Amino acid sequence: MKTPQRLQTLVDEGLIDTVVRQLMSGKEAMVYVVRCGEETRCAKVYKEADKRSFRQAVDYTENRRVKNTREARAMAKGTKFGRKVTEAIWQSAEVDALYRLAAAGVRVPTPHNFLEGVLLMDLVTDANGDAAPRLNDVAFSPEDARRHHASLLREVMRMLCAGVVHGDLSEFNVLLAEDGPVIIDLPQAVDAAGNNHAKRMLLRDVENLRNFFGQYEPALLKTHYGDEIWQLYERGLLRPETELAGTFVRESGPVDLSNVLREVDDARAEEAARLLRMQTPRQ
Ligand SMILES: Nc1ncnc2c1ncn2[C@@H]1O[C@H](COP(=O)(O)OP(=O)(O)O)[C@@H](O)[C@H]1O
Ligand SMILES: [Mg+2]
Repeated sequence: MKTPQRLQTLVDEGLIDTVVRQLMSGKEAMVYVVRCGEETRCAKVYKEADKRSFRQAVDYTENRRVKNTREARAMAKGTKFGRKVTEAIWQSAEVDALYRLAAAGVRVPTPHNFLEGVLLMDLVTDANGDAAPRLNDVAFSPEDARRHHASLLREVMRMLCAGVVHGDLSEFNVLLAEDGPVIIDLPQAVDAAGNNHAKRMLLRDVENLRNFFGQYEPALLKTHYGDEIWQLYERGLLRPETELAGTFVRESGPVDLSNVLREVDDARAEEAARLLRMQTPRQ
C-alpha cells in the first residue's frame, strides 16, 4: 500500500522496506503490517493525545519518571509543552515495558525500534503466518481454557517479578500465537513497587483473565489468585515458578480508614474512566 505519512521517516531511515497493510485502527493506535528485509513486522503508530480515549487520565502516570520540575509543573498545568511531555512518557512507557519484559522472558512481541511515535515490533502470528487473533476472537474447550489461564497467570507472575503490572490485561490485549498466548498493549503498564495503584491493577488483571476463561471452564470462577500473587510479591517471596495454593483468604485485620477512602476514590475515578471508554469501541 501507499506509505502512510507517519511511517515515511522509518522508510526513509531504512527501518521499514514496505508497508503491507493496515491491521487495526484502535482507540490509541493504528497498527500496520510492514516488511523489514526478510522479516514481517508490526508498526504501532500512536495517535495524538487529543484523538485518543481516556485511558491515561486515571492515574497511570503516577510515579513515572519526569526529568525535572519544569516538566512536572507543565504537566500539572496541562500546557502545550506539558501535554507533549505526558505524551512522550505515555508512548515510551510501552517501549520500556516491552524491552524489560522481553528481557525477563515474558511472552511479549520482541521490540525492534521506537522512532517518531512509532513502535516497531515482531508481528505475532498464527499457524498460517497471519496476524494472530485476540483471545476474544477464539472459543476454547474447558481444557484449553484451564491451560491458557494457568500459563497466563505464570506470565503475570513473571511480569511482577520483573517489577511490572500490565494494568489493562484482558482478552482484548492477549493474542493467541501458534505456540500460545502473547501479551500486548502496554502503554499503561506501571512500576509494581512505586505505584499506589499497582495492587489494584494487578488484582483486576488477574480477575479479567479468570472471568474470561471462566466462561469456558466455570470452575475457574471460584479462584482468587490475585491476592495470593500480590502477597507473595510484597513479602519478597514471588518467583516466576512459585506454585500457587489457590486458597488465599483475605485477612480481616484492623481497618485503615484512609486506605479505604483512597480505594473508594480510586474506584470512583476508575468507573468514570470506564464509562467514558465505553463510548468508544473496545480494541
Ligand atoms: N505485535 C502484534 N502482532 C500482531 N497484532 C498486533 C500486534 N500489536 C497489535 N496488534 C493488533 O492491533 C490491535 C491494537 O493494538 P494494541 O496494542 O492493543 O493497541 P490499542 O491501544 O489500540 O488497543 C490488537 O488488538 C491486535 O489485533
Ligand atoms: Mg489493545
